[in-house]
Amino acid sequence: MAPFDLIVRNADIATVGDRYRGDIGIREGRIVAIAQALPGEAAEVIDAAGRLVTPGGVDGHCHFDQPTSDGSRFADDFFTGTRSAACGGTTTVIPFACQQKGGSLVDAVEDYHRRANGKAVIDYAFHLIVADARPEVLRDELPALVEQGYTSLKVYMTYDDLKLDDRQMIETLAAARRLGAMTMVHAENSDCIAWLTEHLLAAGLTAPRYHASSRPMAVEREATHRAISLAELVDTPILLVHVSGQEAIEQIHWARGRGLPIHAETCPQYMLLSAEDLGIDDSDPMHGARCICSPPPRDKANQKFIWSALSSGLFTIVSSDHAPFSMAGPHGKGVAGEQASFDRIPNGVPGVETRLPLLMSEGVLGGRFDVHRFVELSATSPARLYGLYPRKGTIAVGSDADLVVWDIRPEGEAFTLRHDMLHSACDYTPYEGLSLRAWPALTLSRGRAVWRDGQFQAAPGSGQFLPCARPLAPRGGEPFARWV
Ligand code: URP
Ligand code: ZN
Ligand code: ZN
Repeated sequence: MAPFDLIVRNADIATVGDRYRGDIGIREGRIVAIAQALPGEAAEVIDAAGRLVTPGGVDGHCHFDQPTSDGSRFADDFFTGTRSAACGGTTTVIPFACQQKGGSLVDAVEDYHRRANGKAVIDYAFHLIVADARPEVLRDELPALVEQGYTSLKVYMTYDDLKLDDRQMIETLAAARRLGAMTMVHAENSDCIAWLTEHLLAAGLTAPRYHASSRPMAVEREATHRAISLAELVDTPILLVHVSGQEAIEQIHWARGRGLPIHAETCPQYMLLSAEDLGIDDSDPMHGARCICSPPPRDKANQKFIWSALSSGLFTIVSSDHAPFSMAGPHGKGVAGEQASFDRIPNGVPGVETRLPLLMSEGVLGGRFDVHRFVELSATSPARLYGLYPRKGTIAVGSDADLVVWDIRPEGEAFTLRHDMLHSACDYTPYEGLSLRAWPALTLSRGRAVWRDGQFQAAPGSGQFLPCARPLAPRGGEPFARWV
């Protein structure tokens, strides 16, 4: 028997800490040897020909086939969503099992497994969304779920069907602290949004671009500060998701300065889209609906802040927040009708496939940060944060053979991103026409080529569910002991 199933030879290997030329030996889906020149046979040899090889991406925030309450439907199920991820170099995704208000968290997880089973083509874990923090949910359901490998949860400070009030947030954070789970926070002030929305609609300002007016930066800044304060009271880390601009970044800076363990995520939409993408006039009202997401894209000055906070180390991870709603059809962006006001348009943009190529092109090749920071933001840190490291998120002996071999074009040979290159079931990309210089030539998921030379080639159901380790040490006792 050959010692390896596969050898990737002549790879320019990049991890968070290292960059070197070598061969990667793979057996039974794992990396079993790395050497300058691996001796021995393999059933298959891929010559990387000196190309850059990075760990497969870990997308710590995406939405596939998640139940909704407004008649809309996510365009991607676990097959099309993970297919799209694989073709863009992502080999692990973490979407959300979402509890309904009045419902059970355990039921949400069981339902979500049914949706994923037999469909995913790459490996996946689940975050929980705690939408109803009843005492029995936190006391009876959450501990068992954390034990079973659902070790991160998201809480919302907005959206009527999901939001928790401050007391419920505190109780949930305290439960997460006891259990060693990581809490992700969607920080926008719900009452401010409701008040602004009411006034905008009353004034007849209903077009998609008023979505941004209904959720200005102050709304995110205030909730960010409040989330940090609640986490400080409870004495537990949080991750602020989809941070969109300067004023939220300033709050995170301030918190870090106080020594608080506050993590932060941003997404390509806040680096590359701006409020102008929601429409500059009312000539084509639905066009702006494409880029409606929450928090909304800000202005160009805020994009610069996002990029510099990526370079400086402020952000912990970059995720896609892939939340795909098609433009056509009755369940997408137009679910409430072509002329629907901005508040009735489903929130979210697709991006699971474009996350890595955009970060590589605009971030690394654009000179904003180096390849090590790219690996950290896109793979290693999300794997660590959510208890999947070192199985996922790095290139090391013993890790899963999740690899991306890059096709990097020289300056002057950029190509144009088009929706028809992509593999999501969503019918558009918000980045149509963007010039790119990098795309995966090959994606390996546990040693299987799932994307190779422009061809997707994995069977539905070949992805595995990943139970996550606890990212934090469980901490019992009174969370508020430090205050008395
Ligand atoms: O607009 C967004 N971000 N939609 C997805 C749901 C969420 O809050 O992440
Ligand atoms: Zn959110
Ligand atoms: Zn999201």
